[in-house]
Amino acid sequence: MMTLFKMQATLATFAVAGTLVLSPTSAQEQAAQPATVTAEEPAAATPEPANDPLARGKYLATAGNCMTCHTREGGAPFAGGVAFKTDFGTIYSTNITSDPKAGIGSWTQEQFVRAMREGVRANGEHLYPAFPYPSFTKVSDEDLGEIFAYVKSIPAAATPSPANEMGFPFNQRQLMSVWNALFFDAGAFKADTKQSTEWNRGAYLVEGLGHCGACHSPRNFLGAEQADQAMSGGVFQDKVPGGAIRQWSGVNLTSAESGLKSWTTEDIAAYLKTGHSNRSASFGPMNEVIGNSTRHLSDEDTLAMAVYVKSLAPIERSPKSTMDDKALRAGDTLYTIHCGTCHLPTGLGDKPGSELGAPLVGSAVAQAPDPSSLINIILYGGQVLTPVPQKSWKSMKALGDNLSDEDVAAVATYVRTNWGNRGAPVTAAQVAQQR
Ligand code: HEC
Ligand code: HEC
Ligand code: HEC
Repeated sequence: MMTLFKMQATLATFAVAGTLVLSPTSAQEQAAQPATVTAEEPAAATPEPANDPLARGKYLATAGNCMTCHTREGGAPFAGGVAFKTDFGTIYSTNITSDPKAGIGSWTQEQFVRAMREGVRANGEHLYPAFPYPSFTKVSDEDLGEIFAYVKSIPAAATPSPANEMGFPFNQRQLMSVWNALFFDAGAFKADTKQSTEWNRGAYLVEGLGHCGACHSPRNFLGAEQADQAMSGGVFQDKVPGGAIRQWSGVNLTSAESGLKSWTTEDIAAYLKTGHSNRSASFGPMNEVIGNSTRHLSDEDTLAMAVYVKSLAPIERSPKSTMDDKALRAGDTLYTIHCGTCHLPTGLGDKPGSELGAPLVGSAVAQAPDPSSLINIILYGGQVLTPVPQKSWKSMKALGDNLSDEDVAAVATYVRTNWGNRGAPVTAAQVAQQR
């Protein structure tokens, strides 16, 4: 009983406030509320509890961030109803509490394992990959058993999940069997014996429960992650400060120049553990990934994830600049007026804790193949993970009211093409789409 009670108390402090709520109506309702992420101070260490399967299940569910996707603003934990806007329609996460009707209370462990491993629900229907089963398939049987035990212990909530809004033919779930045949390989993670135990643990978490590729890998025209370009940068729809839904880009996480070449393994581990490192602070959708998931993992696990991410071979998708000096000059002046005081004329910024900004030279956000996240931070500012961890930066202020679409495009182009950075020029039309 005591363990259960404690678990609930911890759950309540989880960031339900910052969940992804992607339907236009709820986005408007949300507009009045500050989109903060309430995260606990990082625990000194949250080792995977050795002897308590329920606590282990909770730890694994945290690594999978089930809570963020399955809890709607103001709703009961895990009762679903979070909307995911995709190119194929809006999909709502389901109720995964132990309610026998609205939730999955009547499911057997076998049925749960099949959903996670194959993307097929108890009644045999196919699930859509907005549920990241293409990543969760890598989770081991043992870990799935423990996640199931934990999910079973979540109090029942009778709230049914809303029906998906998808047009023909995408509303035909049986089509997913074709999709799966084309793009999906079911099966648990297989260790690479040439690599260290630490690397394998990191790969298991990043590719499996962490589902980092869901946002950081490009997808093909049918929404499948492109394996040959894995982790080189993706795009998706999510909330911007103020609550509207706009495009975001998950940056290139490979060791390409436009990716994480300038980050050390320690930088990546610190970022996943605290929300900031010597290179950057999280300011967008990463606030929920870090606030609700990775910061609660043990130091060993975040370090293992960093070791794996740092080992990713470079995939370069951002071109070197071909712009002449004249074309850069418009951005140069705007940069000096609006950015240079914090990011410095050199673009080198400063370390966290200072009054200045993060380095833009070698920044993965500045150079991402798709510039959406760069445009978003200029228009809407940053939202540093709260409570602001010691020694982080202050969050960057929104400049959208001070700058026209042409201005934002010029200054964004400047930071992508100056100082040896990479990235195609940004157009005013791309900026207008993010307003
Ligand atoms: C990125 C968002 C996301 C994450 C993270 C996520 N889910 Fe889901 N999940 C969904 C969506 C969306 C659906 C509904 C898919 C559909 O309707 O086809 C779903 C469906 C499910 C289902 C099928 C339920 C049913 O009624 O058929 C199960 C089981 C499930 N999720 C469990 C989990 C668990 C356990 C975790 C954490 C390890 C998790 N999910 C993490 C988005 C997510
Ligand atoms: C919901 C989508 C999403 C998921 C899941 C996700 N990321 Fe991100 N990631 C982003 C976005 C968007 C950014 C851009 C900056 C931000 O949001 O703060 C980013 C940025 C980053 C950065 C670079 C930060 C910078 O400022 O240059 C790193 C490192 C990173 N993510 C690692 C990870 C890892 C490791 C995982 C898996 C545990 C992960 N991400 C999962 C969306 C995501
Ligand atoms: C008042 C100081 C300040 C000004 C002015 C400012 N920034 Fe920032 N910027 C920051 C801080 C602090 C961060 C890191 C924390 C955060 O993400 O909010 C940051 C982060 C960024 C990032 C993300 C870097 C990364 O890799 O994660 C980019 C890109 C950026 N700024 C571009 C700009 C541009 C372009 C301008 C001018 C249009 C600008 N900034 C103006 C302080 C500032």
